Order: sequence, then C-alpha cells, then structure tokens
Amino acid sequence: MLTILGIESSCDDTAAAVVRAIGAQGTILSSVVEGQTSLHAAFGGVVPEIAARAHAERLDHCVEAALTQAGLALRDMDAIAVTSGPGLIGGVLSGVMLAKGLSVATGLPLIGVNHLAGHALTPRLTDGLAFPYLMLLVSGGHCQFLRVAGPDDFTRLGGSIDDAPGEAFDKVAKVLGLPQPGGPAVELAALSGDARRFALPRPLLDRFGCDLSFSGLKTAVLRQRDALVVAAGGLRVQDRADLCAGFQRAVADVLAEKTRRAVALGPVQALAVAGGVAANRTIRAALEAVATDTGLRFLAPPLALCTDNAAMIAWAGIELYRLGHRDGMDLSARPRWPLDRTAAPLIGSGRKGAKA
Ligand code: KG4
Ligand code: ZN
Repeated sequence: MLTILGIESSCDDTAAAVVRAIGAQGTILSSVVEGQTSLHAAFGGVVPEIAARAHAERLDHCVEAALTQAGLALRDMDAIAVTSGPGLIGGVLSGVMLAKGLSVATGLPLIGVNHLAGHALTPRLTDGLAFPYLMLLVSGGHCQFLRVAGPDDFTRLGGSIDDAPGEAFDKVAKVLGLPQPGGPAVELAALSGDARRFALPRPLLDRFGCDLSFSGLKTAVLRQRDALVVAAGGLRVQDRADLCAGFQRAVADVLAEKTRRAVALGPVQALAVAGGVAANRTIRAALEAVATDTGLRFLAPPLALCTDNAAMIAWAGIELYRLGHRDGMDLSARPRWPLDRTAAPLIGSGRKGAKA
C-alpha cells in the first residue's frame, strides 16, 4: 500500500490531493482544487504574476484541506509528489518550494512529476488501463497525441502546430459575441445550427502525419462573420448557430481523422482522451466512433479528472515511486519540459505555450 500527497500549481488551479494505491488499484482519498478564474477575469487571460502569488498564498491551505478530507496527517504519507513542469514558472516554483519544505521537515521522499504525465496516466487511476494506449490531450492550452507505454515512457505522435482547440473555441466565441469559456457556449449555440451552411477548412488533412492546426479555421470563421456583417449589416441568431455548428464539426472531423492516423501507428489497445475539450459531445462522439471502428476501448475520465487537479499528480507520483524514482533538493522547476525526450520541443503551441 502506498499513500502519496500530490501538489499542482502549474497554471491557474491551486490543487492538493491524497491518493492511495493498493496494488494496481488507486483510490482518491481527497482532491482539493481552488481555481483562480475570478482573479484573472478582468485581464482576458492568465496573468503569471497574479497566478504565482495566489498559488503561494493558497497552497498550504489546499494541502491542509486535502489531508483533513482524507482523515490523514503528513506522517501517514509515503512520499510527496509535485508538478515540477511544464507550466508558468512562478506557479511551478511555488509548488516545488512547498514540496521541498514539507520533504525536509518530514523526511518524506520528494518526487517531481511532469504535469502532462499526470494527464496521460489518469486513465490508469480511474480505470486501471493497461499499457500501451493512445492518449489525446485536448485542452485550452494543449493538443497532442501520445503513445503511453509506461509511467515514464511517452512517444509524442503529433500535435497542434499553432492554437490548441480549446483556445480556438474561446476565440470563435469571442468573435461571435458569446461568453467565455467559449467551448460550452459554442457547443450550446451549435445545437440549433446547420453545420453544412458554411464551407470551413479542415486544416492539415492534406498533410501526412498527425500534426494539427486550428488557427486558420478560427480565421475562416472570422472571415465568414465579416462577410455576413458586410452583406446584412449584422449577425442573426441563426447565422451564429450555423457558424458554431460548422466550426465544431470541422474541429471534430480533423481530430477524428488525425486520431485515426495516430491509431494506425499502433500498437495500442485503447484510446483515451483528457482536457476540457473532451467534454464536447460532438467531438467525443467522433472520437468514440474512431475507437469503435478500429476495435479500441474508448476512455474519457470524468471531467474533474480531465481538467487540472492534483490527484493525477499524486497518482503519477505513485507510478514513479514504484519505478524507484526519487528527487533531491536540487529538483528544479522546468517551465518547458517535453514528455517525450526524443521529440523536439514545440515553441508556441497553445495559449502562450504555457498552459498544459
Ligand atoms: O482542460 P481545461 O479545463 O483547461 C486547460 O486548458 O488546461 O480546458 C479548458 C478549455 C477551454 O478553452 C474551454 O473553452 C474548452 O476547454 N472547453 C470546451 C468545452 N468545455 C470546455 N471546448 C469545447 N466544447 C466544450 N463543451
Ligand atoms: Zn493540464
């Protein structure tokens, strides 16, 4: 039996969790997430300095709350796992410094976890999924295909060369006058729209491989909007619904086709998705259809575990602990830390390349 405290502070969620593993079975004893949306709302995006200060102020409170909710004390832990990258440097540093302090004070081993490994290993916590499997991460700041063959064995098969899909949903919502976060608003508007009315591009489908692009699609929506404004003096509710439906369909088509190609690179037994965009029903259905067609199991962990949280960090810590992984006081915060050591780092992928 292993019990690990997880700490997460790489973007705009301050989180702590206690996870226990008995054999391959993981149980979340507590998971506390304090979001910072209201702190950043006035600025139209995450402000790194504000995020770092908020993490520094709230982390110890989150850790206390996670221990209390689990009914355990620090002395009951076997180790402390902390996100040590990638992400916004100030936030990651806040978490790493706290974890080092706790480790020195208690003598507990310290384990630095890659935030993306946390996302990628979540299906093992929720469903005990066996290696190897294909993971598609689709969030507001991230978009990549990973073949997951072990707790520390990731191969990046492709990803967005510009915007992450969630970022594109948010921008499309903005240009159409819909509220943020844009994903749910666009999905709702699309319900009453005709996806075939506007001809929108399917970027990079003509290019070999699994890379994706969403920036041109977003611009195409903007052009259609401008054309409607010029022709009719404004947008009608139906125009907006049709644009939302067309955009959503294009994202789903591109993700499905690229997933099909990633599956073909094999060998995998399952297709798992994570990230806020995986909440979209049209996209989820398209991905599930690919899994069914290719004979793979389809897994989408519950939304609270798809988006940023510390339970995934504690679980990744458990997997790494079992591999014998331990960090010392020289553990550093790594704002850019590619999961796949053989892949060239992608600069500028996703929202400022920071949020994962
Ligand atoms: O994973 P997440 O909560 O945060 C990170 O970016 O890490 O993802 C948030 C993103 C936002 O861009 C939001 O617009 C998008 O996920 N999103 C959606 C939906 N719900 C959230 N996109 C499309 N359809 C949705 N239903
Ligand atoms: Zn994340």
